[in-house]
Amino acid sequence: MSIQVSFSVKRFIKIQNETRMKKIKDILNLDQEQPGLKINGWVRTKRDAKGFSFLEVNDGSCLQNIQVIAEQTIDNYDAVEKLLTGSAVSVTGRLAESPGKGQKWEIHADRIDILSPTDDTYPLQKKRHTDEFLRQIAHLRPRTNKYGAMFRIRSEASFAVHQFFHERGFVYIQTPILTASDCEGAGELFAVAGGNPPIFDNDVYLTVSGQLSAEMFALSLGDVYTFGPTFRAENSNTPRHAAEFWMIEPEMAFCDLDQDMAVAETFIKQVITHVLDHCESDINLFARFVDKDLLPTLENIQESLFARITHSDAVEILRAANIDFTYTPSHDSDLQTEHERFLTEIHFKKPVIVYNYPRYIKPFYMRRNPDNETVAAMDILLPRIGELIGGSQREERLHVLEQQMIDAGVSKDSYWWYLDSRRHGSVPHSGFGLGFERFLMLITGATNIRDVIPFPRTPGKVEF
Ligand code: 4AD
Ligand code: MG
Repeated sequence: MSIQVSFSVKRFIKIQNETRMKKIKDILNLDQEQPGLKINGWVRTKRDAKGFSFLEVNDGSCLQNIQVIAEQTIDNYDAVEKLLTGSAVSVTGRLAESPGKGQKWEIHADRIDILSPTDDTYPLQKKRHTDEFLRQIAHLRPRTNKYGAMFRIRSEASFAVHQFFHERGFVYIQTPILTASDCEGAGELFAVAGGNPPIFDNDVYLTVSGQLSAEMFALSLGDVYTFGPTFRAENSNTPRHAAEFWMIEPEMAFCDLDQDMAVAETFIKQVITHVLDHCESDINLFARFVDKDLLPTLENIQESLFARITHSDAVEILRAANIDFTYTPSHDSDLQTEHERFLTEIHFKKPVIVYNYPRYIKPFYMRRNPDNETVAAMDILLPRIGELIGGSQREERLHVLEQQMIDAGVSKDSYWWYLDSRRHGSVPHSGFGLGFERFLMLITGATNIRDVIPFPRTPGKVEF
């Protein structure tokens, strides 16, 4: 009896271009002459021929399947012949050169253990299902090629985020999810009941941003970042808003707005590069079936120098464009999605950083510019996505911060600790927040935020 080596399809795919047995054994880590191999997974398709069946088995480790040949002679061939798409199997067999097209190697099964069969109610069949349909079966959609690829990309991108900051010496801070503060001042808070009777003495909410906590750590540890879930109760049912999403928020001490923009630009480019380098076949699926322009779009982002314009100049460009916008661009108000998309998709045709926004439309914590009218804010706008990043230099001067809190109607008492940080060793510091789901939409070409989140939470019913 030979040794059985359990391995993933991903490892198997690595040998598909190899002919030398020695190399193959190295890759698969085999040391026996003709060792048994074991592979666990779910049947994607089965085709029957005279005297044997072909099974395409996928284990989620990569996009590709492994082809398994089951001959009539195996013990439970009757049951194998009846296997339906979606059944879980454990295949023991040996490596054999494949006479068929599409793969060099396949597995000849000695034995197929049926871990769990499905029946004909399994909703995923070998045809293309719509995204809308798959959202209704979010518990099964990761079994499809597209969503398997999506969530492997999401995982790899998360890793790239941590790697980017880790390589630069940033300290990862897990900021709280339960909080008393409304960082953005937009009132889009989810209240938390907190037990019955409530265990907290004050009103508690789910965080809308880890920034204020991160600032305290930047003012102690220098360069820090958070990467975690954030919640917004805005009732905007758009393809780019979710009630629960993940945000990446670096916060850097001794850093001004220019440096902040430079870090953000490098960050976007490097994470894209990492994903392109590490998820080739998954990305190619999106480039083929979801967005034909995906690769040129991503290359354009990697290669371009992001445009930088002030809010005031952006408004002038929009006015000069002679376009019938639904909202008239104005020096006193924020840019609307239609304006953002015009700037990045039509005018500049590349990512655009808009900075120095009117102070009254921005949160209290942003640093007031010498003109007294604007704050050192920046938004990064991307083609198809609109706003991907919102950031700013923070107001480090106590008296200005206090005045801005009064102007914004923010209680100084509840933020005593935040103000205190400006009393003791306050230094210039800056940061930004990048919406991870919007980033994934950019990277995959997905047009709806619901399709880049494992179990999306958007207005309506929460299921799964
Ligand atoms: O511009 P926002 O509101 O900025 C902040 O929260 C700052 N405190 C960040 C900071 O400076 N540390 O949000 C940042 C980003 C947006 O640009 C967008 O990409 C994403 O978070 N975002 C959302 N993504 C999905 N669904 C929503 N409802 C989102 N709201 C914001
Ligand atoms: Mg914003």
